[in-house]
Amino acid sequence: MADMMWAGRFSKQVDDTVNAFNSSIAFDGCMYKHDIQGSIAHATMLGDCGIIPKDDSVKIIDELKKISADIESGDLQLDPSAEDIHMFIEAELTKRIGDVGKRLHTARSRNDQVALDLRLYLRDEIKEIQELVIKLINTVIDIAKQHTETVMPGYTHLQRAQPITFAHHLMAYVAMLLRDLERLGDVNKRMNYCPLGCGALAGTTYKTNRQQTSDLLGFTAPMENSLDGVSDRDYCIELNCALSLIMTHLSRFSEEIILWCSWEFKFIELDDAFATGSSIMPQKKNPDVTELIRGKTGRVNGNLVTLLTMMKGIPLAYNKDMQEDKEAIFDSVDNVKLCVKTFIPMLATMRVLKDNMRNAAAKGFINATDCADYLVKKGMPFRDAYKITGTLVALCIEKGLTLETLPIEEYQKMTELFTEDVYQAISLDTCVKERKSYGAPAPDAVVVQIENAEKKLDEIVDLI
Ligand code: ARG
Repeated sequence: MADMMWAGRFSKQVDDTVNAFNSSIAFDGCMYKHDIQGSIAHATMLGDCGIIPKDDSVKIIDELKKISADIESGDLQLDPSAEDIHMFIEAELTKRIGDVGKRLHTARSRNDQVALDLRLYLRDEIKEIQELVIKLINTVIDIAKQHTETVMPGYTHLQRAQPITFAHHLMAYVAMLLRDLERLGDVNKRMNYCPLGCGALAGTTYKTNRQQTSDLLGFTAPMENSLDGVSDRDYCIELNCALSLIMTHLSRFSEEIILWCSWEFKFIELDDAFATGSSIMPQKKNPDVTELIRGKTGRVNGNLVTLLTMMKGIPLAYNKDMQEDKEAIFDSVDNVKLCVKTFIPMLATMRVLKDNMRNAAAKGFINATDCADYLVKKGMPFRDAYKITGTLVALCIEKGLTLETLPIEEYQKMTELFTEDVYQAISLDTCVKERKSYGAPAPDAVVVQIENAEKKLDEIVDLI
């Protein structure tokens, strides 16, 4: 390894094990574009403020652009023994343009540089994730539109509870994903402040123009306090929280799909392209994608704990512990993108087995609440109606009947309020169609939910 940038202070070469231990280029190399973007803004400001000669600033910027293109094309390979991407690019610049390159790091430290690069990198990643979540929301809405009349059982405690529609169920996920999308925007709003110029921790004695670099890089404003500028990682934690929630939603959805494609439910059939077989059991068709998503939720949550734990005890300002931020947040970002990308076509190609959903809804006394409500609408207090219906359900179980097949005489033994129209009131279709309160499963109510979700999506997209 060549002499380190900071070799002047030392009388010995750093031990190879320490160099390897210290190096972060294996995982921060992906930020090369953002490092160069930040350096170009910094060099522009140094030239404009007369801190370095204008000609030098121009030369630095030209060469940085070439370095970026060379890394992009593969002509320049990252040196795995470099300390990090920041040192690598600066060393390459100096190799190419000599002393002029050495002026770039004036009025800047790696501490504000790394804080800047990470914000720039994550800003782009948030955008990509937002685009993926938008695609996912549109996919779910498209399926919901086809199933506003598809009756299925709604569950509590995983016991059949009340009838809903498949569209209603799907729109619950749309509501979660819309919040996720909004949350990503919120994280971005708070993250979008510029740490460049905070220096190592205490700003600089040069007459820099932090507003200029902040503007050039598209930030809302420069960060107010230089200690905070270099040592804040709230945005990594907030972003990981937002990603953990996305994974939580995908994981719950995945769990339901796993149940739904089991023989016990058989509400859906995954496309063969999105399922896998078994090495020994020829009949198997496994929902591996959804299981992996459920599994990866654990690792994204683990990254959140890594970040929180890493930050909780470090004194101001920068400490090397903070180099650990990147692997954790990059892993979360990469995995969320991977999961959403795979989930979208899996959902879009799954077959919905409407008849099985309906048959399941027809069993399990899912209309018992409606039977009680029938009596309430005829003037009986709800608690009494509840008790009578419970007794009727017990009677049905004893006789092997359903509420639909129980003879009217049995009903009338309980109360004269029951007449023939009870069968109409407790039919599955009535039970769904009459649930038309705001947000409920009646087809018309779900159409409103879909319209509102599409409006909300447009509003959020406008803000991105
Ligand atoms: N690779 C380091 C990181 O990611 C860069 C910052 C190093 N700063 C320092 N003062 N040693 O955190």
